[in-house]
Amino acid sequence: MTDIVAISAQVEAAVRAALAEALPAELAGADPVVRRSARADFQADGALAVASRVGRPSRDVATEVVRQISRQADAFPVEVSGPGFVNVTVPDGVVWAAVAARLADARLGVGASRRGERVVVDYSGPNVAKEMHVGHLRSTVIGDALVRVLGHLGAEVVRQNHVGDWGTQFGMLIQYLDEHPEAAWQGRGVGTMSALDALYRAARAAFEAEPGFADRSRARVVALQAGDESTVAVWSALVQESEEAFARVYDRLGVLLDAGDLDGESRYNAALPGIVAELFAAGIAVQSEGAVVTFTDGVNDPDGDPVPLIVRKKDGGYGYAATDLATLRLRVEHYRADRILYVVDARQALHFRMVFDTARRTGWLPDGVSAEHVPFGTVLGADGKPFKTRSGATVRLADLLDDAEAAARAVLREKGDDFTPAERDAVVHAAATAAVKYADLSTTRTRDYVFDVDRMVASSGNTGVYLQYAHARVRSILRKAGSQGVDDAAPAHPAEKDLVLTLDAFDATLRDVAATLEPHRLCGYLYDVATAFTRFYDLCPVLKAEGAARGNRLALCELTSRTLATGLDLLGIAAPERL
Ligand code: ARG
Repeated sequence: MTDIVAISAQVEAAVRAALAEALPAELAGADPVVRRSARADFQADGALAVASRVGRPSRDVATEVVRQISRQADAFPVEVSGPGFVNVTVPDGVVWAAVAARLADARLGVGASRRGERVVVDYSGPNVAKEMHVGHLRSTVIGDALVRVLGHLGAEVVRQNHVGDWGTQFGMLIQYLDEHPEAAWQGRGVGTMSALDALYRAARAAFEAEPGFADRSRARVVALQAGDESTVAVWSALVQESEEAFARVYDRLGVLLDAGDLDGESRYNAALPGIVAELFAAGIAVQSEGAVVTFTDGVNDPDGDPVPLIVRKKDGGYGYAATDLATLRLRVEHYRADRILYVVDARQALHFRMVFDTARRTGWLPDGVSAEHVPFGTVLGADGKPFKTRSGATVRLADLLDDAEAAARAVLREKGDDFTPAERDAVVHAAATAAVKYADLSTTRTRDYVFDVDRMVASSGNTGVYLQYAHARVRSILRKAGSQGVDDAAPAHPAEKDLVLTLDAFDATLRDVAATLEPHRLCGYLYDVATAFTRFYDLCPVLKAEGAARGNRLALCELTSRTLATGLDLLGIAAPERL
């Protein structure tokens, strides 16, 4: 089968060729700047910029471009408008041919534009013996969407869950358990994480209040690092149970992460002394107040003093930075990454900037490999402050999901349905997860957003539930009549054309998401598709239409439902047949 070329790409190629013909050779590569427009199917503004560069009246250049396009074989109808825009009309035959081509293609016209690229995505990264919080939710959900989109575009994706499973806090936890056997968390099942979290808080309080306990905890860290058998056994149990609890959350959220993606900090223990030694040998690390640090040009504190990246602490312990350097190195050398993405809270920007800079200078991060911090904003409570419970504790992810399910159940009850209880549970679960994920994904990634369950589960507006409803509505039309062939000799109603041209942008949207790492662009796109569909459905009867119109409209329904379902799936959101 021949390639499915998007209508927009065909228009762009025609304008580009015309520009090249119409203008001096040195401007042959000028950007045609083709966009959808309210005044025409597409508008090309490229002639304007070019005209000002060659010092010619822009209308003249546009007229010349129009003349050239008209001369091309499969020309699109064009005309000059305003100061020198080129307005392009897409013929109805092209519209319907595009629908037929898309429907014949399982990938809906989406190319493998990222083939040959190997991307490591570091996301989720919760900490052992601590409750997963909303920050981890953001990382998990955004990372999952990026993994899916990049993979769909042909990239080879390596998922890495850099869990915090090492560090001095384990000395404190293990020592506390030793002295307070009643604090044991084992066998609490779904309550494991809360019990571990309580253990963490109790141990921290003892550590701060009792110097004797603090000393014994420090001795425990030494024992853990030296591989003392009984200490290591407790550590492993803590890690294992936490990981099982994380897995339950991933399962509930429906994200791709699994046990094979675990890449905990402890994995890098043995590599840390070597990291420090090599940094010294390369003259990049220096001693500063007993610690081993690196500096990055231009990174200074408010007093103008350089900010250190602490690789080894004064007490000899290795920090987060040392582990990240070792991790980065493995990703380049072992996983052969071309691109490494860190989907981590924006507040860690400086850490990553300095880690990447240090790795670049040491040669661990070669020129051909890009390392990118993919930052995200903070989740806020209704009061506009970082989301906490009333008592100031971290909000449990599991509680949030419970709240979302309760709210989704209320919304569905209002609608009324004929589901069996089991079907309803499944739908409630799908809607609640969609609500939470979509609220997160549809916000510009770097922005803070307010966690508002009622707004999230709303069935109208730019929400996940609205898109699920839109999809289910199209499916219900299709259940009443299957799709038939497309007749490309039939006329296209403006609302039909608008829907097709919107659907046409699927590939371009996904490429954009892969380049900018901004899933909200896909959310916005799917919302546009749903909106264009609604307009089409209001203006163009489907089941009551006859002949070619009916066939073409059913084909449009089919293409819309497939685009919505695929798009939602790439966001990690289910598209149930009925809702
Ligand atoms: N565990 C860290 C945290 O909770 C996130 C880890 C992010 N990944 C990394 N390579 N540093 O903040």
